[in-house]
Amino acid sequence: MGIQQKFVELFGSEPVMFEAPGRVNLIGEHTDYNEGFVLPAAVDKAIKFAIKPNSVGKYRFYAFDLNESFETADNQIHKSNTAWANYLLGVIAQFEKDGNMVPAFDCVFGGNVPLGAGMSSSAAIEVGMAFAIDVTFGFGYNRLQLVKFAQEAEHEYAGVNCGIMDQFASMFGKAGHVIKLDCRSLEYRHFPLDMSKYMLVLVNTGVKHSLASSEYNKRRDECETGVSVIAKHYANIKSLRDVTLDMLNDHKAEMGDVVYKRCSYIVEENARLEAGCEALSRGNFEEFGRCMFGSHAGLRDKYEVSCSELDTLVEIASKSAGVLGSRMMGGGFGGCTITLINKKNVAEFEATVRSQYQTPDGKQPDIFEVVIADGAHLI
Ligand code: GLA
Repeated sequence: MGIQQKFVELFGSEPVMFEAPGRVNLIGEHTDYNEGFVLPAAVDKAIKFAIKPNSVGKYRFYAFDLNESFETADNQIHKSNTAWANYLLGVIAQFEKDGNMVPAFDCVFGGNVPLGAGMSSSAAIEVGMAFAIDVTFGFGYNRLQLVKFAQEAEHEYAGVNCGIMDQFASMFGKAGHVIKLDCRSLEYRHFPLDMSKYMLVLVNTGVKHSLASSEYNKRRDECETGVSVIAKHYANIKSLRDVTLDMLNDHKAEMGDVVYKRCSYIVEENARLEAGCEALSRGNFEEFGRCMFGSHAGLRDKYEVSCSELDTLVEIASKSAGVLGSRMMGGGFGGCTITLINKKNVAEFEATVRSQYQTPDGKQPDIFEVVIADGAHLI
């Protein structure tokens, strides 16, 4: 049974259907909350929503994949003890904070974005909910405002002080294109990616990134500490976007080794992204792939958000025929690697990964061949 049918079974009428995708990020990791650049794309794995207003004065949700229900009165929006429901409630709360009354509605949702795999299933849920509410009730927000609601929901109701990349990619994705997003100005460009010869392959370590939220928030604090040290010495330093390696080197002693490592990674990652985009615009995928490997090394050694399973998968990729680049993707501490590879070598690569890597519970890893898709839309 699908999402739509389940809605009809539960609520007895036909819903309107929406979907919002998960995302990949080619390069530019942990740069979004430092006002740097990112290069994500929406993918062909999505969360679907069936939604319709009701007249019972309640929000009634059903998580299709978990087979669980949740309901609450429509005048009582607060964080609940049901983790999955908080993503939806968090979005409703943002509409309300902005002065709207969100009428009661029924919603069934679910999809095939793997959970805890670093493909932003939570952003897909938040973005899909924001988009569906806006269209259903005709609030008329633009996509960027809805992205900000979705991001704020993650901050307030999921407790992760995330940047804007995941929600932005899920909302603004475009088939066949990556998004080069300037996380300071929020200007973006859809960059065509000619994948006729190449493929992006994700391998899921099978390690759920449970450490991620505490360590994530800690990395943010460390970056802010670095900025505050540099800002004492130079005018107009607002974020690591304004900082150079020379500045960091000159004030290394004041910030200490850990903060120095974190900050220098971010400055270098922004430079790698620029170099990578430049290479892509010349069709030089080999050079872009080298930037991906460089990104992984920085995330592992300086930002310290990798884990042994991610490192093993990147190591396997680095020795496999036809691989141009490979790196951990997303917040880190588990989830997927993303590998750029020649199409003709994909089958061999996947066989190698399956024979050389096992998830912590002794299984073969899930492997996804990614197709770049459109952002949130009505179905
Ligand atoms: C998570 C966050 C994003 C971003 C990445 C790391 O996915 O939600 O905002 O910071 O980690 O690049």
